[in-house]
Amino acid sequence: MPLNEQHAGRERHQPIAASVHHPDPDAYIPCHRLPEAGMDAETAYELITNELLLDGQARLNLATFVTTWMPSTAARLMADTADKNMIDKDEYPQTAELESRCVTMLSELWHSPESETATGCSTTGSSEAAMLAGMALKWRWRERRQQAGQSSDRPNLVMGANVQVCWEKFCRYWDVEPRLVPMEGERFHLGADEAVAACDENTIGVVAILGSTFDGSYEPVAEIAAALDRLESDRGLDVPVHVDAASGGFVAPFLQPELEWDFRIPRVQSINASGHKYGLVYPGVGWAIWRDRAALPQDLIFNVNYLGGNMPTFALNFSRPGSEVVAQYFNFISLGRAGYTRVMQNAHDVALQISAGVAELGPYRLLTRGDELPVFAFALNEDVTNYSVFDVSGFLRARGWLVPAYAFPENREDLSVLRIVVRAGMTHDMAALLLDHLRELTDELESLDGPLPHRKAGPRQAFRH
Ligand SMILES: Cc1ncc(COP(=O)(O)O)c(C=O)c1O
Repeated sequence: MPLNEQHAGRERHQPIAASVHHPDPDAYIPCHRLPEAGMDAETAYELITNELLLDGQARLNLATFVTTWMPSTAARLMADTADKNMIDKDEYPQTAELESRCVTMLSELWHSPESETATGCSTTGSSEAAMLAGMALKWRWRERRQQAGQSSDRPNLVMGANVQVCWEKFCRYWDVEPRLVPMEGERFHLGADEAVAACDENTIGVVAILGSTFDGSYEPVAEIAAALDRLESDRGLDVPVHVDAASGGFVAPFLQPELEWDFRIPRVQSINASGHKYGLVYPGVGWAIWRDRAALPQDLIFNVNYLGGNMPTFALNFSRPGSEVVAQYFNFISLGRAGYTRVMQNAHDVALQISAGVAELGPYRLLTRGDELPVFAFALNEDVTNYSVFDVSGFLRARGWLVPAYAFPENREDLSVLRIVVRAGMTHDMAALLLDHLRELTDELESLDGPLPHRKAGPRQAFRH
């Protein structure tokens, strides 16, 4: 639920005459109160689409990981299925069947040893999937502790300070201590030694990220797992790994198939991914997959007797649209492995084209190149003092490109970067245009003979994605 702090009582009116079809030029509706009388659907449609013109162009939004382009057939299929509630499995058994096929396909893609009895579910996104996977870790740890007659009141979760906010939410909502391993120098994500050093008998798991939100880099999942294997043989601590593959879960299997990050590593117990990121579906779908049935405690599953059927569910919410799951299945069968590989390869090539172009401009240094996720971050060289990455972001925005600038977390707050996320739908031509615009504005900024006035205020925002 977004927390909306607008005042319902504040009077602001919108002229209905903004609609060219409306007969009464003096008609207004209140913006923050339910109007007494409505209006015809055409006028309402026009009013809203006009207002939404002020939003940024989704395809030029290089800040988001979330899908902004699908083929028109997919959009049609989603509109056709928008009326189906995913939870009504008894009423819409084929939608439920498509969900279960997706779970099986993902289990196989991520090398589940038991793909015949794939264990997993769709969610509204990686955040919900993270909550479910985190709960499974907590429940299993508590059970182990209780069976051994040990206290189970101080669980902790080990992860890098670069985790997405969903993991901090998980810890706060489920009363788990977040052990955030800080960045250090040029290490911008979790390292194996640092992960192990933060673990103790109260650690419910380590989260390794396949595709850090901050810079697109992959955390070394296999190294982290191997270090935890050593911890187990040295100190008897058996700490499971969860892989947050929100983005990488749909990239690595196609572009880096040899990279072992998934259930090929026995210590990896669960994986989440966002169907609406590189799974290529419009917003609203994620996936949580467990290694096998044993990895998901049965008492987390509710068997709901609903509308005549017995339905096992593991979810935070109840009703949600079935259309996203249908669209995920559409992508799976229409693209197949070959199609996903093609799309990801193209995104990679475009990311490398842009990062190489950025590096050539002069004042920038690359933190990553976009050769893991097709995502890269870059900073200004230290000798650039007249303008900041926030200015570059603002100037790009004026040309329509949404490229976020943000400061890194604890220990590297001194570092502010720009980040570009290349997704399906970003072409080589668009990349060339972006580079042209970046070159023009960089030349302009480089020609300044003193700092831009607001520089005194310092960095203006931290990263809240
Ligand atoms: C690594 C990582 N985990 C989790 C999330 C949350 O994903 P969602 O938006 O699907 O809830 C994100 C979103 O950017 C992410 O990058």
